[in-house]
Amino acid sequence: MIEIMTIVLGLEGTAWNLSAAVVSEEDVLYDAESTYKPLQGGIHPREAAQHHASEMKEVVTRALRAVKEEGVLLKHIDAIAYSQGPGLGPCLRTVATAARALSISLKKPLIGVNHCIAHIEIGRWRCGTRDPVVLYVSGANTQVLAYRAGRYRVLGETLDIGLGNAIDKFARYLGLSHPGGPKIEEWASKSSNYVPLPYIIKGMDLSFSGLSTAAKDATDSHPGEKAGICYSFQETAFAMLTEVTERAMAHCSRDELLLAGGVGANKRLQQMLEIMCRDRGARFYVPESRYLKDNGSMIAYVGLIMYKNGDITPLEQSGVNPHYRPDDVKVTWRKSERFKS
Ligand code: ATP
Ligand code: FE2
Repeated sequence: MIEIMTIVLGLEGTAWNLSAAVVSEEDVLYDAESTYKPLQGGIHPREAAQHHASEMKEVVTRALRAVKEEGVLLKHIDAIAYSQGPGLGPCLRTVATAARALSISLKKPLIGVNHCIAHIEIGRWRCGTRDPVVLYVSGANTQVLAYRAGRYRVLGETLDIGLGNAIDKFARYLGLSHPGGPKIEEWASKSSNYVPLPYIIKGMDLSFSGLSTAAKDATDSHPGEKAGICYSFQETAFAMLTEVTERAMAHCSRDELLLAGGVGANKRLQQMLEIMCRDRGARFYVPESRYLKDNGSMIAYVGLIMYKNGDITPLEQSGVNPHYRPDDVKVTWRKSERFKS
C-alpha cells in the first residue's frame, strides 16, 4: 500500500514554530516540531532563524524515524515541500535552504508552498468542507477569502497588522509572555465589563493597530480594569471579524465557513462565528487546534496535492517571498471540482 500512495515530507518555519511532517494521501503520518521561545519581548527574526537552523536536523530526523517505524522509508517519499512565504525573511531562507539540500541529496522534486493557502487547505481536508468562505486569522495575517476561478480571492483583509500581532503587542504591554493570545483569552473570561474601543472597518477591510494603542491607553487610565479591557479588546476585534465574514458569506452566497490560523483557537471567537453561522443557516468548521496554528502537516499536505497535479518548483524558482500573497497562487489542484457559480 505504502508503495502506491503519494507521500510528502513538508517543512514549516515561517515564524516561531519549526516543524517537519510526513503526510500520505490518507492521513498525517507524523508531525515533529520545535518552538522558538523569545527570552523576552516578541519574535526576533534572526534569533528565530538561528533556532530553526540549529533544530532542523533533529526535527527532520525525528519525523523520518517515526514514519520508518510504520514502514515508510526514504524511497517512499515522493517530494519535499517547504513554506516559500509569506513570513520572516531569515526564517524562510533557513527552511528553504534545508528543503533544497534534502531535494538535491535525495533526488526528490521540490515544492514551494504558500503558507496562507496551506492554512486553508489543511482545514478543508481535516474538516471535509467543500467550498467555504475562509476566515484566516493568525499572528501576521488576517484575511477573509473564497475560491473562485482558479484562485483564492481575498475579499477583505487587515490594512495594517494581523490580529494575533495586535493581541501579542497588547499582551506584552501587560507584561505577559509570547504568545499573548491564550493569556488575554483567560483574562477576558474573568470580566464582562465593556470599555469602548475603536471598531475600525473600511468596506471589507479591517484595522487593528489603533485597537492595540487604545487598549494600552485604557490600561493606563483604568489600571484596575485589566480583565475588562482584555474582554473589550476581544469583543471588539472578534465582532469586526464576524461582521466582515458574514458580509463575505452573503455576497458570495456561501453556506460554509472555515476558520484557519492560530487566533482561531480562541473559544470566544469560535462562539461568535458559530452564532452568526447558525443565524444564517450555514455550517461552521474549525479544525483541531494543532492544525490551526503553524504546522508542517499543512505544508506537506499542500505539497502532496500540488505534486499530484504536476505542480513542482524548479530550483531556479525556489527563492523565498516574505510577502507572498494567497491570491498570487494559481490553484492547480481544484480544477476537477465543480461548484455553483
Ligand atoms: P502566520 O505566518 O500565518 O501569520 P503565525 O506565525 O502568526 O502564522 P499561528 O500559529 O498561525 O502563527 O498564530 C499565532 C498567533 O495566534 C499568535 O499571535 C497567538 O497569540 C495567537 N493565538 C494563539 N492562541 C490564541 C487564542 N487562544 N486566542 C487568541 N489568539 C491566539
Ligand atoms: Fe501561520
